[in-house]
Amino acid sequence: AGTGKFFVGGNWKCNGTKDSISKLVSDLNAAKLEPDVDVVVAPPFVYIDQVKSSLADRVEISGQNSWVGKGGAFTGEISVEQLKDIGCKWVILGHSERRHIIGEDDKFIGKKAAYALNGGLGVIACIGELLEEREAGKTFDVCFQQLKAYADSVPSWDNIVIAYEPVWAIGTGKVATPQQAQEVHAALRDWLRKNVSGEIASKTRIIYGGSVNGGNSAELAKQEDIDGFLVGGASLKGPEFAIIVNSVT
Ligand code: G3P
Repeated sequence: AGTGKFFVGGNWKCNGTKDSISKLVSDLNAAKLEPDVDVVVAPPFVYIDQVKSSLADRVEISGQNSWVGKGGAFTGEISVEQLKDIGCKWVILGHSERRHIIGEDDKFIGKKAAYALNGGLGVIACIGELLEEREAGKTFDVCFQQLKAYADSVPSWDNIVIAYEPVWAIGTGKVATPQQAQEVHAALRDWLRKNVSGEIASKTRIIYGGSVNGGNSAELAKQEDIDGFLVGGASLKGPEFAIIVNSVT
């Protein structure tokens, strides 16, 4: 872990029911979470209100996506203003599932990030390469290009956490090795240093996502440039998520 406060997000994706979420919330409320870690969960939109009213305030809430501009006639979308209104502090943008399944591109994601930041939300800005891109030796090119799209549009880096999620590691059980993750995190920080500023490079948290679980998080957390995690599957189990939150100590 680096110098910034450790940050662990739980991305619940499109999972859960009122009952399973109420169990998850009570497990999280019962868990001992290290005080020196920022903990955020991203429930499906329809359960945010339930989670907000039952989960301890110590855990902040994130949306999993937001509309690119002011709300209005955009069927099926959720606006930044609505996320703020319901008590969200964060939004996840640029997740690989939205890039590769829904088809969002760099420019659109950059615009969303700018709008969310201007509206007062923190942004968990995801990037990451596909397996074929890694195998073709293009990991850095792809990640830098995605990072540049954020850099080109955001008003400031104060409220951004970068989530590096190699697509081949998401939901596959194939976690990046600590060395593989560290190598990319260090390169991303170096890119920020050269293209944004030394100050932003050292203070921006870069978190890792992709098959993180209670068994591998401690080794990953030891890496110098890994400042936390974005957890999918393992965040649906309260006790295991707590282990990951506490893995920095
Ligand atoms: O956003 C978190 C995510 O994509 C990683 O998912 O299930 O591999 O932890 P998972």
